[in-house]
Amino acid sequence: MSEWSMGRGKPKQIRHPQHRAQAGAASIEMPDRAFIKLERVEKAYPTPAGDVCALKGIDLEVWEGEFVGIVGKSGAGKSTLVNMVAGIDKPTSGRVRVGTRAIHEMSEDQVARWRGRNVGVIFQFFQLLPMLTVAQNVMLPMDFAGVYNSPKERRERALYLLEQVEIAEQADKLPSAVSGGQRQRVAIARALANDPAFLAADEPTGNLDSRTTEAVFSVFEKLVDEGKTILMVTHDMDLASRVTRTVHLADGEFVGDRAHRGLPGEAAHA
Ligand SMILES: Nc1ncnc2c1ncn2[C@@H]1O[C@H](COP(=O)(O)OP(=O)(O)OP(=O)(O)O)[C@@H](O)[C@H]1O
Ligand SMILES: [Mg+2]
Repeated sequence: MSEWSMGRGKPKQIRHPQHRAQAGAASIEMPDRAFIKLERVEKAYPTPAGDVCALKGIDLEVWEGEFVGIVGKSGAGKSTLVNMVAGIDKPTSGRVRVGTRAIHEMSEDQVARWRGRNVGVIFQFFQLLPMLTVAQNVMLPMDFAGVYNSPKERRERALYLLEQVEIAEQADKLPSAVSGGQRQRVAIARALANDPAFLAADEPTGNLDSRTTEAVFSVFEKLVDEGKTILMVTHDMDLASRVTRTVHLADGEFVGDRAHRGLPGEAAHA
């Protein structure tokens, strides 16, 4: 296994508030407010049969470095919730703040620019561009955001990220020539392209076999160890028990919010 250091700076060791208390709060710096905050978020989708209320007044605070699993039955509102936080969709009412930015107040252009630089989004079906190579897919968000200037720099960073997810040797293949698990690794590398603090993953292992699921999940665990904040929708209750916190949605409302003992890995050994 290679060393993991996907960010620009030194990996941070940030802990969930509950974990901090156990580890000795005095020695660890605590942020003074939540990294992600949702207040009374409602989302109604208009349909010919009337509005479908997908989220019914959600309040949520997520702290930097948390790995939050979002669970619930099909239609509970999990994807809608993640889309609100990633700025993929807007709430009908309520407030969404990520870092210092009020997402609900931004125009579509502003939110697209913000997302490109600040959020890594990972979907169940990878959503790679089929006519671009693996490396070009990873370079694409860098091209859009203009963070890494020269094509050489962007290619080098893409290869570096592909190395971190252990598929650098596939860099010049098309996505159709690599396996499902490898495609999801490419999607993770692409999500990390602009070094976002926050990853939003909607059933990232939903289309993978159990061995590949384990490998992809361990990539997320390592990213959380480096200080990334992750929201992950999952139907896999085994994975949901291994994140730092699980929130349970039913019919657009929270019906459970459970903090586990520590970060992944530590929880497993507790
Ligand atoms: N674009 C849309 N137009 C109308 N209704 C929608 C739309 N998107 C979602 N919905 C409805 O909103 C509710 C929540 O949908 P959402 O996709 O968030 O559920 P989910 O928990 O992600 O489900 P799944 O586990 O099946 O992915 C559902 O009743 C769904 O039918
Ligand atoms: Mg969904």
